[in-house]
Amino acid sequence: MRYFRERFLAAVAVMAGFQLDVVTAEFEMALHGPYNYYSSSPILPRPWANQFTTWFANSAPILTTISTGVCNLTLRDYHAAMESPRGSPQALKMLSICNRHEACVYSQLAPSVQLNYQGASILLGLTPVILSTLGPTMAELALLSTHRPVLSLLISLGAPVYWVTRVFEFHDPRDAARGGRLIIRKKGPRIAILISIVQYVLAAMAAANFISTMVEIGRKTTLAWACTTAFAPLLWSTLAAFVNVIATASNLVIERASKPKDSQCNKTSRKDRQRCRGKLSCKCTSAPFRKTLRRLVASETTICANREVYYDSKKKGEEVPKLAMFLFVAAGCMSFFLFLFGTAIFAALQFVTFIDAFKRILVRLIASTIVCRLILLMELAGLRRTNDVAVK
Ligand SMILES: *[C@@H]1O[C@H](CO)[C@@H](O)[C@H](O)[C@H]1NC(C)=O
Ligand SMILES: *[C@@H]1O[C@H](CO)[C@@H](O)[C@H](O)[C@H]1NC(C)=O
Repeated sequence: MRYFRERFLAAVAVMAGFQLDVVTAEFEMALHGPYNYYSSSPILPRPWANQFTTWFANSAPILTTISTGVCNLTLRDYHAAMESPRGSPQALKMLSICNRHEACVYSQLAPSVQLNYQGASILLGLTPVILSTLGPTMAELALLSTHRPVLSLLISLGAPVYWVTRVFEFHDPRDAARGGRLIIRKKGPRIAILISIVQYVLAAMAAANFISTMVEIGRKTTLAWACTTAFAPLLWSTLAAFVNVIATASNLVIERASKPKDSQCNKTSRKDRQRCRGKLSCKCTSAPFRKTLRRLVASETTICANREVYYDSKKKGEEVPKLAMFLFVAAGCMSFFLFLFGTAIFAALQFVTFIDAFKRILVRLIASTIVCRLILLMELAGLRRTNDVAVK
């Protein structure tokens, strides 16, 4: 924490134009003084593997030579800090040592290489923007989550950057299916199962690709603003799933409110139907757990084109409960902070050249996002209409 505070104060001081020599002296201390200038927080997880041992391929030879050659002293201290037990004085120095080693390696690079890194970091900083134009919207994914939660989870891991919703704005998730033109009609049972399996496989591959890219970024680069925080990229990419949970809760509140009160009895059990025959209002006995589970699994694995639900485009702009709006806006705010967090992470990646940024990071993330988006589009098209039975 002290690290962030110092950097922030230094920036403020420079902008305000005072205490410049004090600030300069502080940075001198950070770069050349004893290692205890910044202390690592004992709460934050440490890097799960030694940093500075693998690099992105394009500049790996230069970096390895410098890191183990001229900068061997700081590298040795870094390894020692990694191996010492948590909370020990040596381990607390790790953040300082990491910064020092990073500075040492950087200072040995030719200016042309440094420029390459800086240019690449601009491209990388735009990653969330680039991915958001390809990714799902929060409302679309929330709608799919109510019908196929597991598939949606995979999609939110494979395409964790949502198209930026305006903060404080509410979009009825059901409108995601009511608006579009593409319609997919009911498929035969065999084809439907095949499609469903292909969807899971593709979505799982996309998620694995995205996550492994994030792990690789954590291992092969350092963050300019948090040298030892190797887990930040992975953490960022998984947080979108939580945003999706909140947005889905919003849609569940809406769907529950719009459901006719007695329609559940028809679905649950024959007993209910006999008991309720002839009565105007009658409470359902809740379905046994195994039946509910079977229904959930069936709902999860059935492609949207093959279910009885479809969303009628004439019903756009219905009233929705306040709670649903609140949840959606909350999810939108979280999504905004994730966007900021992601930009801050990608822009701060060190030691990534243009070629690495494009070939080994961007292309992989874009591929995952596109695959997930296509699955989502297909499922939404299936929700527009199935066999003319209007439920909502
Ligand atoms: C280790 O680093 C020191 C200080 O920079 C340097 O003098 C020495 O030559 C380095 N050793 C090797 C094997 O490169
Ligand atoms: C549920 O069953 C009742 C009578 O059994 C019927 O009137 C009603 O239309 C049914 N609701 C739905 C949504 O099918």
